[in-house]
Amino acid sequence: MRIGLLNGGGDCPGLNAVTHGVVGAATQLGWEVIGFRDGYEGLLPPGDYKILDSEKARGIIKQGGTILGTTNRGHFSSKTGEGKVGQIDPELMEQAKTTLRRLEIEALICVGGDGTLTTALQFFEAGVPVIGVPKTIDNDLKATAMTFGFDSATQMVVDALDRLFTTASSHKRVMVIEVMGRHAGWIALYGGIGGGANVILLPEIPFDLEKVAEVIREREASGLHSTMVVVAEGAAPRGGELTIEAREAGSEYRLGGIGDRVAADLERLTGKETRSCTLGHLQRGGTPTSWDRVLATRFGVKAVKLIEAGELGRMVSYQRYHVGSVTIAEAVSKLNLVDPNGEVVETARAVGISFGD
Ligand code: F6P
Repeated sequence: MRIGLLNGGGDCPGLNAVTHGVVGAATQLGWEVIGFRDGYEGLLPPGDYKILDSEKARGIIKQGGTILGTTNRGHFSSKTGEGKVGQIDPELMEQAKTTLRRLEIEALICVGGDGTLTTALQFFEAGVPVIGVPKTIDNDLKATAMTFGFDSATQMVVDALDRLFTTASSHKRVMVIEVMGRHAGWIALYGGIGGGANVILLPEIPFDLEKVAEVIREREASGLHSTMVVVAEGAAPRGGELTIEAREAGSEYRLGGIGDRVAADLERLTGKETRSCTLGHLQRGGTPTSWDRVLATRFGVKAVKLIEAGELGRMVSYQRYHVGSVTIAEAVSKLNLVDPNGEVVETARAVGISFGD
């Protein structure tokens, strides 16, 4: 038995831990694992791949990035821009299937976010035996209670806040920290609570900057001269627009820039010196946390078990402390957003964090 493995979309801490889990479980069954390079691109004839044996998987559980390479553009992109989904060119699909047949791959494990899984579904519908593994630092996939990578990204935000707090308080400044997450506020919410932010601005709760300015003024009046404001890249003022950094034909727009806007406006409204810091790809880089290493390993092992059980077209999913699975069709395009009235937001409010609403 020979199975294929690929990583698609943006990289994410824990991708190599999935590979480690897949190779470990497959090797015990006497199966061979072929790792395709740069996502689905590696399926283009003649096929760009490497054989993943225990030797290659040794020690990778702790490595950030992906030893297979990835892409969130390319020939097999099913997200064709601004919420649009396109069909993969049938000619390209045939070419990929030819590569899989020639290499005698009996099932393909696709590790990725919504875009990669949408493409995986098209492969499955075209007759390729596929298993999906959810991956994203954004934690925005509805069909799994958690994705690996989220905890590592959040830990990075917390570390950054710890550092930025000391400089903000030394200078009595307002510090605005922009974090990733696309249209979901999970990284901002968890990173903000964990890092002791005073204000958290989320995509799910449109904000009013005058309310944030009022928080800063009140803190000032009570002798608290620095304020930490975490803003998610997808947050927007009430009735206002998203801040888009770049648009590229044929792919999703790139968010970015809200931190600078918020900082400039807060300085104007409060008269307090304000700085902004965008954490950007630091949130995706580096070694995975222990939680992400373990979750990703469990996901990799479960993917192999699903193949062994003949349960194809399914995506590994974490629910209620247990790794199970759902159909890929059920999983794609359903976003997991922060509930503005949920317990985590209530917890933040209870400890005095403002959402600028
Ligand atoms: O989906 C993960 C993510 O890091 C988002 O949080 C962010 O908006 C996007 O990818 C950035 O993508 P790129 O690496 O293409 O700039």
